[in-house]
Amino acid sequence: MALLFFLILAFCTGLGLLESSSRTRLVGGRHRCEGRVEVERDGQWGTVCDDGWGKKDVEVVCRELGCGAATGTPSGTLYKPLAEKDQKVLIQAVNCSGMESKLIHCEQEEDVFDCSHNEDAGAMCEIPETVRLVGGPGHCKGRVEVKHREQWGTVCKAGWNLSAAKVVCRQLGCGRATLTQRCCNKDTQGQGPIWLSEVSCSGQEESLQDCPSGLWGKNNCTHDEDTWVECEDPFDLRLVGGDTRCSGRLEVLHKGEWGSVCDDGWGEKEEQVVCKQLGCGESIFLSAKAQRNFGLGVGRIWLDDVHCSGKEQSLEQCRHRFWGYHNCNHKEDVAVSCLGDHNN
Ligand SMILES: *[C@@H]1O[C@H](CO)[C@@H](O)[C@H](O)[C@H]1NC(C)=O
Ligand SMILES: *[C@@H]1O[C@H](CO)[C@@H](O)[C@H](O)[C@H]1NC(C)=O
Ligand SMILES: *[C@@H]1O[C@H](CO)[C@@H](O)[C@H](O)[C@H]1NC(C)=O
Repeated sequence: MALLFFLILAFCTGLGLLESSSRTRLVGGRHRCEGRVEVERDGQWGTVCDDGWGKKDVEVVCRELGCGAATGTPSGTLYKPLAEKDQKVLIQAVNCSGMESKLIHCEQEEDVFDCSHNEDAGAMCEIPETVRLVGGPGHCKGRVEVKHREQWGTVCKAGWNLSAAKVVCRQLGCGRATLTQRCCNKDTQGQGPIWLSEVSCSGQEESLQDCPSGLWGKNNCTHDEDTWVECEDPFDLRLVGGDTRCSGRLEVLHKGEWGSVCDDGWGEKEEQVVCKQLGCGESIFLSAKAQRNFGLGVGRIWLDDVHCSGKEQSLEQCRHRFWGYHNCNHKEDVAVSCLGDHNN
């Protein structure tokens, strides 16, 4: 009896240890809720083979990481830099029912017999929504609302400053925070609970919820004091005038306005960054004649003298002249063609 008890105890502690030492992360994606799946064993991070990898498995990863809904089950070499050569593939196959709270609770084949880093499993999840801007144009301007106990409520502007706005803009994946005096009139003010007041951020916090504040729901504010934030639109790019979204004249979005890119100094590395950012695979060479078929741009010429190393995740990270400064005309607009359209 005592022995049995001991065995059960040993078994449980073993499991406990296994579980507490098991961690999962996503590497190489656009944010913490997307990337190549890596699991930790004995202090080493390894990958998971994509055998049988699917939606249910990704759902579990998203849940484990506190991310939102599963949106994709990528695998292979999509996420750069690739796993190191000496990083092990730790799991050959995973079979989750979809209800597990962690990947380690899923049925797993740990005997890795046949897998390389070309078959690494990945996950795409939504970023969980805990803050939003409402009542403004687009999702990057509006009244600040935070989610608490499954209910959206407003933030009082007592104590609020530009550093807090910066945190919100970053959290939402928007551009820079801009100074605004604008606030809420009777049409745009909130109605529900006033969740936060005296929010004081240094500006370095990952999320608004990390900033010191008064207690949730404990304040004497009214909706006349709702906080309003304006961020620039996020940098974005698109290819226009072609048959698919993966070829055409290049346009970039800056301060809410689409503009073209000048071809001074433009080359293969820059094209690769664009194709990768759009999820369109490798870039392919375009003759000058083919380029002209996409037509000339109108309006702003945003970028000139762009230089990329080829490793950037976004064209925005490449060196370039200050936005809007150039010595070009629209005859020099860049056009790009990429091999494929993986997301249709
Ligand atoms: C995965 O598990 C389910 C039951 O949970 C089982 O029916 C199925 O055969 C398993 N698939 C593989 C590939 O092991
Ligand atoms: C905003 O307030 C916080 C906390 O009081 C302070 O650390 C920060 O420097 C302030 N930021 C600005 C832009 O005034
Ligand atoms: C709200 O006002 C009451 C009465 O003036 C005061 O006692 C209380 O401390 C205030 N609460 C906060 C959070 O400021």
